[in-house]
Formats: sequence, structure tokens, C-alpha cells
Amino acid sequence: MRVFSSHKELIKSIDSTKLVGLVPTMGSLHEGHIYLINRAINDNEQVIVTIYVNPTQFNNKSDLTKYPRNLKKDLRKLECFKNIFVYTPSDNDLYKEIVSKNYDLDDLDNVLEGKFRPGHFNGVATIVEKLFNLFTPNNAYFGEKDYQQLTIIKLMVKKLKLNVNIVPCDTVREPDGLAMSSRNKLMNKKERLYAGKIHSLMIKAKEIYLDNKIDNIENILKNELNNLKHCKVEYIKIDNLSKYSDCLKDEGYRLFVACWIGKTRIIDNILLR
Ligand code: PAF
Repeated sequence: MRVFSSHKELIKSIDSTKLVGLVPTMGSLHEGHIYLINRAINDNEQVIVTIYVNPTQFNNKSDLTKYPRNLKKDLRKLECFKNIFVYTPSDNDLYKEIVSKNYDLDDLDNVLEGKFRPGHFNGVATIVEKLFNLFTPNNAYFGEKDYQQLTIIKLMVKKLKLNVNIVPCDTVREPDGLAMSSRNKLMNKKERLYAGKIHSLMIKAKEIYLDNKIDNIENILKNELNNLKHCKVEYIKIDNLSKYSDCLKDEGYRLFVACWIGKTRIIDNILLR
């Protein structure tokens, strides 16, 4: 593993004739990230893992401040990958001025997460486009846990005609079904126990999907989740994101959930088929 805080130094070390895979992360690495890195190592000759908590995608200052960070621990977790490049920039290495670009994301940045986190997806698109432009990867890896983010990145790549293949990767879950996320660390033991019930309630909703109207399922799940201790639903939506843009392929309906467990915000989604 070679660690760089300067993109210029990292670019000098990359052989541009070889296949490059990019795994963008905000650190606080868990098994979900390790899965993305292994996928990238499998498909590419060189792999760049970026660790950067991107300020422009936080619409709330306190969320940015309390976002978990532990670079030393992250680097220890990556030591076993002998041949990867790790990019750990400061703000200055990426931004002249810490502001988002404005993207035309059709209406996809204003629904679901976008409705509750205004500006979030413009911030995500800004940093991801910057990383794509700097390192010109052949493949870039994103988890389906953030399915709307993944779809927005695909949309941005299409609209800007960027030459990178976006590789969606399955959500990695804890044994009780909770989707792995850096934010899971912020919950106390009791909250974590209740968070483990979210996924099984989503699976139960999926089982009644074919026999029920969408509204019914959303309402049933909303009641069940709101009845869980420490849990407060922000939104539950069955949606097909491709309907927001002519540039997207129909990938099927999904059940999207965002809720608070105590002071920790959790999002998850599953495919309904
Ligand atoms: O999913 C994340 O961790 C971030 O949104 C990403 C893609 C690394 C951009 O900062």
C-alpha cells in the first residue's frame, strides 16, 4: 500500500496504460468498503482508494463535525492490500473554494434523500467528478446501500459523457441484517439492537408487495418502524428512480427507508421483485 496526500504525487505513480479502479470512500472503513476494494482489485491492474470526508455534501454542519473519522485505524485496515494506492487529501488538495458545482440531475436530486438533505447530491457529484477527472479511472465502485447516490453518479456520468464504468456493488450487511455504514458506530448498544430489526421489517414488507397497493405497504412499514423503540421514520418510499430521467434504464422498483435511531440517521433499500 502506498499512501499519498497530494493528487499530483499519486498521479505521477500511476501507469496510465494499465486498468485503473477507483473506490471513493469517506473513511471509517468497514466490511462494506473492503468488499468494494476486493471487487476493484479483481477487475483492475491498479486500485486507488480515496479517504476524504467531503464537506460540500453535508447540508448540516454538526453532521459534518460528528461524522466518524479515524485515519490511523483505516490505514491499518488497508495494510493487507499490498498493491493499492491510498489517497488521503486535505481540503486544499481538492478544492480552491469549498463549494459545490451545480448539476442538472433532472429531478432525482430533489426526491427521497434530496428532499431531506438539500444540496447533498450536488456535493456528491462535485467530489466524484473531481476524482474522476484527476485519476481517469476505467472503473469506479459504489455500494447499492446508497442506491440514489449510485443512480445519480450514473446519471452524471451519462450527462457529462465521462469515460468511466460505474460498478454497482451489493450492500454488505451485519448478521442481523443492518446495512453496514460508518454511522452505525454512533449508536449505543440498545439503539444498535433496535436498528437490527429494520431490515427484517423491510423483508416482511417485500413479501406482501405483490398483494398490496404501494401506499398500503408504505403505511404498514411506517407504523411498524415507528413502533420500534428509539426509531423515528423520516420517509418510506417505493420508487423506481429511472422515472425521473430519460437517461436512466429501468432497474425495477425498490423500497427505500430513512429513519432515525436515536440521533443516528439510517438509510437502506431493497429491490422488490
Ligand atoms: O458514499 C460515500 O462514502 C460518499 O458519498 C462518496 C461517494 C465517497 C463521495 O464523498
